[in-house]
Amino acid sequence: MKKNLDSRTADLLKDVEQKKRDEHARKEMMDVKPLEFPLLDELVETGLICEKHGCQLVTFKGLKPFCKQCAKEQIEADNEKLAQDAAAKYHKRTTYDWLRKQSIFSDESIKYATFASYIEDEKETIENKKLARHIAGEYLKGASYNTVFYGSVGTGKSHLSMAMLQAVNEHSDSFKRCLFVSTDELMRRIKDSFSNKQSPYTEQAMVERLIKADLLVLDDLGAETGAASTENGATDYTVRTLNAIVNGRMNKPTIFTTNLSSTQLTKMYDKRLMSRMFRGSKGHVIIFENTRDKRTDIDYGF
Ligand SMILES: Nc1ncnc2c1ncn2[C@@H]1O[C@H](COP(=O)(O)OP(=O)(O)OP(=O)(O)O)[C@@H](O)[C@H]1O
Ligand SMILES: [Mg+2]
Ligand SMILES: [Zn+2]
Repeated sequence: MKKNLDSRTADLLKDVEQKKRDEHARKEMMDVKPLEFPLLDELVETGLICEKHGCQLVTFKGLKPFCKQCAKEQIEADNEKLAQDAAAKYHKRTTYDWLRKQSIFSDESIKYATFASYIEDEKETIENKKLARHIAGEYLKGASYNTVFYGSVGTGKSHLSMAMLQAVNEHSDSFKRCLFVSTDELMRRIKDSFSNKQSPYTEQAMVERLIKADLLVLDDLGAETGAASTENGATDYTVRTLNAIVNGRMNKPTIFTTNLSSTQLTKMYDKRLMSRMFRGSKGHVIIFENTRDKRTDIDYGF
C-alpha cells in the first residue's frame, strides 16, 4: 500500500515536472520580441510637406528629407522597370537571337560573315556588295520579294547573304527573326529524324521553324543530299519540305543561294516550286561570273 502511494506520488511529481517544462517552453515561445526596425525609429519628422502626397517629409541621420510614400513608389517603379527589362530580354532572346541560336550552318566560318568583312577587290564584288546592301535596306523597310545569289563555288554567295541577315538583325527597329539555313544540313537532319525518333529536327518542326523566320537564307539550294540522286530529280522528302517552306513563306522574303542555273534547278524541282521560289526576284538576282574562288586564295603550301 505504502509502495503504491509512493509510486502514485512519483507519478504525480513526474506530471508536475513535465507541466513545468511545457510551461517554460510555452513562455519562451511567447517571449519572442516583436521584429525590430531600429532604423524606422530613427526617422524624424521634419515639418516639411511632400507636394505630391501632402504628408510630412522625414529625415534620418542627417540625410536629405524625403517622403516615405514617394520612396515606396520609387521602389515599385524600380521593380516595374526590372520586370520590363526581363520581358525585353525574353523578347530579344526569342527574336534577335534566332540568327545565332536557330541557324544551321554547314560552314561555321559563315556565322561571322558581315558586310564589313567582305572585301571588294574586283568590279563584280564591288557591284554585288552594293546590290546586296541595297536589298538588305529594302528588307529593313519591309520588302517581301525573294533574292537569288547565283555563281560558282567559293565566290562569296553565302558570305554576302549572311551579311544581309546580320545587317537586318542589327538595324531593324523591332527585333526580327533572321535565319540562315544550309539546305544540305537541313535535309540531312530531317532524313536522320526518320529513323531517330528522339531527333528534334523532324520535317514538321523544321518546316515550322523556317516558315516562322521573318527573313530566311536557304543556302546552297540544289546541293542538298538526294537532290540530284535520281534522273527524275530531287527525292520526295526534299521536294515536299521545300514546297511546304516556300508555300508557307508567300508573304515573307527568302534569300536563296545556288551554284545551279535556273535550267538545272527546274530539272531538279518542278516548275511550280521554281516560280514560287523565285517570286519577285527579277532585279534581285546577284550573279558571280568573274569572281575568283575565295577558298583557293588560301595557300596550302603544296
Ligand atoms: N569578298 C570576300 N571578302 C572576304 N571573304 C570572302 C569574300 N568572298 C568569300 N569570302 C570567304 O571565302 C569563303 C568562301 O565564300 P562563300 O562560302 O561565301 O562562297 P560561296 O559562293 O557560298 O561558295 P559555295 O558555292 O561553295 O557555297 C568564306 O569563308 C567567305 O567568308
Ligand atoms: Mg555557299
Ligand atoms: Zn511624396
